[in-house]
Amino acid sequence: MRIDILTLFPEMFVGPLTESIVKRGREKGLIDIQCHDIRDYTKNKHKKVDDYAFSGGAGMVMTIQPIADLIEKLKAEREYDEIIYVTPDGETLNQGIANRLSLKGNLMILCGHYKGVDQRIRDHYITKEISIGDFVLTGGELAAAVIVDSVIRLIPGVISDETSALTDSFQDGLLAPPVYTRPAEYNGWKVPDILLSGDEKKIEAWKEEQAYQRTKERRPDLLK
Ligand code: ADE
Repeated sequence: MRIDILTLFPEMFVGPLTESIVKRGREKGLIDIQCHDIRDYTKNKHKKVDDYAFSGGAGMVMTIQPIADLIEKLKAEREYDEIIYVTPDGETLNQGIANRLSLKGNLMILCGHYKGVDQRIRDHYITKEISIGDFVLTGGELAAAVIVDSVIRLIPGVISDETSALTDSFQDGLLAPPVYTRPAEYNGWKVPDILLSGDEKKIEAWKEEQAYQRTKERRPDLLK
């Protein structure tokens, strides 16, 4: 999978996209992530990339020209399955969206700043708008990093234990059950007996019941 990220702040991706699982996926050649600095494409002699809103009010709007030129350049190089704009008024990210995006070949992600991008960019280039929740961030960069992380860990081979991603919370519509590891007793705190019984069938049933109970208590909305 190839992901192109269009941003005014490429440095914001250095941590999230150069460590841990994302790093491993890149090293294995399973994902190719490229960050592009929108400012490099402005034809404005002062390197300006924003301007006042025609509608007035506080806050600047990102101008069309640098973004359009960058999108056109990338589109001439390859076909994109989705051109995503991250914005609080997009569809809220969930596991289903992450699953579907993980099956794609080439994605572009545009990060907005200030009051956002000129609406005409959204009308003419964007195929999908995603929010990561009902709160407002300083810009789309952290949201884009969240989306990339949630998507690439689903690509086969990125996580070493392949079944691991399948047993995550939400993957079967339920939260994940509690987990324990050695020692079986610490400070008098004991692991549930059933997990030490060796009875795989009973353990599986226990996990399903725990997942269901946890979901019922914490996220009853998921059971509807
Ligand atoms: N940009 C600012 N806030 C955002 C959010 N919640 N989701 C996606 N992009 C954003």
